[in-house]
Amino acid sequence: MSREEVSGIAHADHAIKAPLDDASVGRLLGHALPRGDERVLDLGCGTAEWLVRALATRPYVQAEGVDVSEVALRQAGRAASALGVEERLVLHRREAADFVSPQPFDLVISVGATHAFGGLLPTLAAARKHLAPGGRVLIGESFWDRDPSPAAIEAFGELADLATTVDLVVADGWTPVHGHVSTRAELDAYEWACWGSLAAWALDHPDDPAGVQALETATAARSQWLHGYRDSFGFVCLVLRLTPDTTGK
Ligand SMILES: C[S@@+](CC[C@H](N)C(=O)[O-])C[C@H]1O[C@@H](n2cnc3c(N)ncnc32)[C@H](O)[C@@H]1O
Repeated sequence: MSREEVSGIAHADHAIKAPLDDASVGRLLGHALPRGDERVLDLGCGTAEWLVRALATRPYVQAEGVDVSEVALRQAGRAASALGVEERLVLHRREAADFVSPQPFDLVISVGATHAFGGLLPTLAAARKHLAPGGRVLIGESFWDRDPSPAAIEAFGELADLATTVDLVVADGWTPVHGHVSTRAELDAYEWACWGSLAAWALDHPDDPAGVQALETATAARSQWLHGYRDSFGFVCLVLRLTPDTTGK
């Protein structure tokens, strides 16, 4: 079973591939799309769930999504068709860093995909290049809520704490106009959804050779979460606007 197939099963009950519930996603989109007729780009869109929700609730929004995963993009296309929004969604199978567009975007989303650019600030630099005047960025990034264990660092690498993360963004020329820190309930719900779905799939397919692998993966991932990073991992989404240059230079 490929990594993408495992991910598809793991996210069967949690369409957003990040620890946010539906109400939080809706509120963030509300702050990111104040007009309702924006051009939206999602870098590392996965199954394009953010875009599909934006399109389904705002008939004048146009959207483009970029991801390297063919499996995820196929699912995105199916979801858009099911909701009748496929004519307003363009999907690109490509490295997010290589994406270019002749037209800028009013909103650039990148949630849980900063690794595609090598980190938070390179992701913001890429988003800035795509942004129309007055545009917004909706970015979702991990942070350490408490001092991480060595196992947590092994799982996620070096992360900043929340205050430092926001300080870095502000120093880079952005002003947060809204934010959401995932609650413990959202963080837990996401992990249970992922590893529960994968384990359930394994138990439902006892004769499938992939079932053994799926159960092992779910068991190892659940253990890594509970023993390794549950107490230290945090996730924040920020809606950003560019800070005006007031230096007069
Ligand atoms: C955690 S998922 C988040 C998906 C989506 N943003 C969401 O919130 O549901 C990260 C996504 O980034 C994509 N990705 C990873 N590296 C990438 C790259 N270099 N270029 C484009 N997409 C990439 C993965 O395929 C995956 O779909």
